[in-house]
Amino acid sequence: MRTQVAIIGSGPSGLLLGQLLHRAGIDNIILDRVSKEHILGRIRAGVLEEGMAQMMEEAGVGARMKRENLLHDGFDMVFDDEVHRIDLFNLSGGKRVHVYGQTELTHDLMDAREAEGLTTIHEAQNVQPHDFDGEKPYVTYEKDGVSQRIDCDFIAGCDGFHGVCRKVLSDGGMQTFEKVYPFGWLGLLADVPPVHHELIYVNHARGFALCSQRSETRSRYYVQCAVSENVEDWSADMFWDELRRRLPDETAQKVITGPALEMSIAPLRSVVSEPMRFGRLFLAGDAAHIVPPTGAKGLNLAASDVHYLFEGLREHYLDRSDAGLDVYSQKALHRIWNAERFSWWMTSVMHRFPDMSTFDRRIQQAEFYQLVHSKAASTALAENYVGLPY
Ligand code: FAD
Ligand code: DHB
Repeated sequence: MRTQVAIIGSGPSGLLLGQLLHRAGIDNIILDRVSKEHILGRIRAGVLEEGMAQMMEEAGVGARMKRENLLHDGFDMVFDDEVHRIDLFNLSGGKRVHVYGQTELTHDLMDAREAEGLTTIHEAQNVQPHDFDGEKPYVTYEKDGVSQRIDCDFIAGCDGFHGVCRKVLSDGGMQTFEKVYPFGWLGLLADVPPVHHELIYVNHARGFALCSQRSETRSRYYVQCAVSENVEDWSADMFWDELRRRLPDETAQKVITGPALEMSIAPLRSVVSEPMRFGRLFLAGDAAHIVPPTGAKGLNLAASDVHYLFEGLREHYLDRSDAGLDVYSQKALHRIWNAERFSWWMTSVMHRFPDMSTFDRRIQQAEFYQLVHSKAASTALAENYVGLPY
């Protein structure tokens, strides 16, 4: 088999890149080690920047999102039961965020790919990128016990944090910067109306809590937990009780509970790997970086990587210039480090750390005071939350 761009990974990064390339007349094949159903069963992001929503439109897959998403103009921050609203719309000069599940977005991209008859190979075993240092890279894999090979011009490593591309590069000159946080997020998804029409981020003595949503009838809630905890030790009832304990009384009384559609624990870490280009292999999305979920930047960063990479590939094929590909890593990393800073800051301000001193706690309170009383401080938060420019 031969294609122009072999894309490893059928998550949002790989699918969005594939769709944009196809629309620009650039041939691509996507490979994933798991099934379509497995990918659609993963419950992840829910808050999208305008840049990501625009890219979905650019990729020709924005129609359902435009109809069904919820536009949010602000969110609440709660510190010790004091509520402060961040007015995203006014502080950012008229920007909003879109609430639309990663699962739905992935569905839209998969449907479009299928409708166009493009090749996606699911349940591909032992996927390996080869010879990306030279002019003729290729990818090998096994399917139903048979070895296969795809020759290509470029390989896009969109295979997430546990993918093969990171592994191959980790002893090939890739430098990794990492910070691990001493807690995780226990998440619950339920078909109940959200407690509030906007998101609520809570810093409480028992730990962080987040009231998020996927639609007017589907809620997504999180509570900070210890990294050592097992999801099996939690029932939905225990979760609802813990969530309510961390919310101001008035809000807690409004929580509508219901059976859990999904419950899982996500560890929190910050990771950046540099560079993002190795010859003809380019990393994008979680394959190159992870942010802690506080601030909702992971999927949005994947989208900006894809934007820069697509521009570079489009210029290569249509304008016969490699200028865009040559600056891909530098441009993407600039935006990534700014989002890493924001996610680290928001995580530091909103969580209770196990080894926190009284000094650290007073600093958190001062941060909250700044957000409430300084327009400059809340403007900086709003600008980052709605998304820095591409
Ligand atoms: P992935 O979604 O991880 O996709 C990678 C794909 O590669 C997978 O399908 C995988 O099966 C495949 N793959 C892996 N290894 C191989 C291999 N060896 N061979 C072939 N295929 C392989 N981000 C936000 O922007 N906003 C949010 O609100 C938000 N909330 C989040 C909440 C939680 C609880 C979590 C865990 C994450 C959240 N994120 C959020 C982050 C976001 O979900 C990720 O950043 C996003 O999924 C990255 O997409 P990706 O395509 O780069 O990687
Ligand atoms: C969600 C996750 C986040 O990290 C966040 O800051 C907001 C919302 C969510 O999954 O809905």
